[in-house]
Amino acid sequence: MCGIFGYVNFLVDKSRGEIIDNLIEGLQRLEYRGYDSAGLAVDGKLIKDGDEEIMNNIIVKTPGKVKVLKQKVIDDKINRTDIFDNHAGIAHTRWATHGQPKEENCHPHRSDSTKGEFIVVHNGIITNFSALRKYLLSKGHIFESETDTECIAKLFKHFYDLNLKAGVSPDLNELTKQVLHELEGSYGLLVKSYHYPGEVCGTRKGSPLLVGVKTDKKLKVDFVDVEFENNAAQQQQQQANGHSSLLNNHSTSLDSGFIPVAPGEQNLRTSQSRAFLSEDDLPMPVEFFLSSDPASVIQHTKKVLFLEDDDIAHIYDGELHIHRASTKSAGESTVRPIQTLEMELNEIMKGPYKHFMQKEIFEQPDSTFNTMRGRIDFENSIVTLGGLKAFLPTIRRCRRIIMIACGTSYHSCLATRSIFEELTEIPVSVELASDFLDRRSPVFRDDTCVFVSQSGETADSILALQYCLERGALTVGIVNSVGSSMSRQTHCGVHINAGPEIGVASTKAYTSQYIALVMFALSLSNDSISKTKRHEEIIKGLQKIPEQIKKVLNLETKIKKLCNDDLNDQKSLLLLGRGYQFATALEGALKIKEISYMHSEGVLAGELKHGVLALVDDKLPIIAFATRDSLFPKTMSAIEQVTARDGRPIVICNEGDAIISNDKVHLTLEVPQTVDCLQGLLNVIPVQLISYWLAVNRGIDVDFPRNLAKSVTVE
Ligand code: UD1
Ligand code: BG6
Repeated sequence: MCGIFGYVNFLVDKSRGEIIDNLIEGLQRLEYRGYDSAGLAVDGKLIKDGDEEIMNNIIVKTPGKVKVLKQKVIDDKINRTDIFDNHAGIAHTRWATHGQPKEENCHPHRSDSTKGEFIVVHNGIITNFSALRKYLLSKGHIFESETDTECIAKLFKHFYDLNLKAGVSPDLNELTKQVLHELEGSYGLLVKSYHYPGEVCGTRKGSPLLVGVKTDKKLKVDFVDVEFENNAAQQQQQQANGHSSLLNNHSTSLDSGFIPVAPGEQNLRTSQSRAFLSEDDLPMPVEFFLSSDPASVIQHTKKVLFLEDDDIAHIYDGELHIHRASTKSAGESTVRPIQTLEMELNEIMKGPYKHFMQKEIFEQPDSTFNTMRGRIDFENSIVTLGGLKAFLPTIRRCRRIIMIACGTSYHSCLATRSIFEELTEIPVSVELASDFLDRRSPVFRDDTCVFVSQSGETADSILALQYCLERGALTVGIVNSVGSSMSRQTHCGVHINAGPEIGVASTKAYTSQYIALVMFALSLSNDSISKTKRHEEIIKGLQKIPEQIKKVLNLETKIKKLCNDDLNDQKSLLLLGRGYQFATALEGALKIKEISYMHSEGVLAGELKHGVLALVDDKLPIIAFATRDSLFPKTMSAIEQVTARDGRPIVICNEGDAIISNDKVHLTLEVPQTVDCLQGLLNVIPVQLISYWLAVNRGIDVDFPRNLAKSVTVE
């Protein structure tokens, strides 16, 4: 996802060129996280502004890789030689969420196009950005981008001007608090401004941010005090902003209701930050590295301080101060430790995981949540997909829905086809893009063609999309990569918001596509009274999915042992499922073959007796999906057909379900029960883990299996 990097030097001479190199190197260390554009901001030259002299800014940003940014810095002929003994630079890699990856949407964002008084980089999502934008527009601010972040930069200027109008010149930290008070959603952000040369504020809520510290001398203490406001100031601030935020007021009245930073508090620069003073209590040369990820800090320093939600790190005059944006609660820690990172770079990038695939499997409680975030009102059982809203009436009237995709994305279509048909009562066909094109299948103007893709760049799917566009059908994208070809070329769609997927074997994209498609079906049938109960049931089920996935992930130890003891030496594996679980069987088989190179086949349990049964003996490993739904008795009968031929299946069943007498089943993997049409979201997790551990046992490079590519951009 997005990455933040900031660099502040104090009493350490650095040329602009060195500062830019530092920022670019920091961004390069964040590249592995996935991104689509990059940018940075550094100080320019002192210029005359009326009677004042101000330091102008240099902002360089561009869609594409960090190396494109590096080239742009050269092309823009930015002076590299000016020396700064105190400077704050900020930089960002962006993974588009609000608006396409184009230059105006790249970070950093500025408060105004004339002087760029406040400059911001931001990770996360500001959920009330539309309302803020509207408010700020009404106040005369002119927006340059489609991003939520730009509101933050504008808010800084807005509050700065209001404070000045009230005769107060606010501290950057106090100003940050006023801005944060208006923000809803999640953020990790950095702000710099020529009003505060050499200073930076970094803050976070739900999005990581840490500060690395590099000094020649040993730090005096290994912690930084948290600076809480005194009660009077806090109360005043609460009155000022707590009970009258911009949007609560809806006002114009902010200007009159606004209470500036308490005069006693402004520029209150206590030296609680003892860590950064030398023995004689004088500031010492120091460099600070602010980042969303330790991977970009570790090559400079191992001394880091991790910020907590609502912390504001204010760096100025070589000191780091930690302030709180929220009021002190009982038992809250009053210090932040400066820790020593003992991890290697590789370990940091993958967190506690050995491979990106494992990391992505374990990210699914979060990624599935993110797919639903802001789109489902769980209390009132309402689904709103912003990107489809205007198109729903047309889609409801269409003659049929054709879902078109490749690989794992195709399986997510299969997994949701049945609930689509049940809820919408529109016939749905599911097509592999290449086969659909080979057949030159007829497509009409009253068809709705749904393209599902993680990358949004798969050649077969794009060609199929062009084919459908040429025939006048309505096209809908269900895509992970914002700004990808498919996301741009479809008439409308849904971004699944699973975050970048790096492992070649798709895992978290599958569960997020699945949920996005279910939400699509729910929105199409929102107004059907006869479906109300079913809707409520599914939405309640969706709400529990992230927590239930967490539970399933606890099976890892059992699965590891199963792979080690029983499956490792096998040559082939069958996966049996029917109804909703047929897609899970196909997806499980695909995962196993692409990552572990073991032959595996997903079989429709109803088809067992029409051929596949011939393979069954006491040796062939079989995984059967026997979770509770209306087809459960039929699945059980398939399992019995297997056990009657000495097969010893591994059964994925619901918790506490006594499936069949134990001596006939090799092992059960129990998963929580959910609504029938969502059960595949939970059942797929054990097979993702099986494929992963089989591959690891076989010494395969899990993230880069042979002959496969993450994004197949050729036919
Ligand atoms: C949008 C914002 C989201 C913000 C929310 C708040 C973007 C990319 N998303 O999300 O960050 O929190 O508003 O209101 O700015 N689209 C296609 N084809 C596709 C996928 C999407 O045409 O394959 C179109 C959609 O029709 C829509 C736009 O892209 O016009 C954004 O889609 P999506 O991110 O799903 O929309 P929201 O969830 O509303
Ligand atoms: C490739 C990947 O084959 O493309 C698969 O290796 C993926 O994991 C398939 O499912 C389709 O990709 P996308 O990006 O269109 O979902």
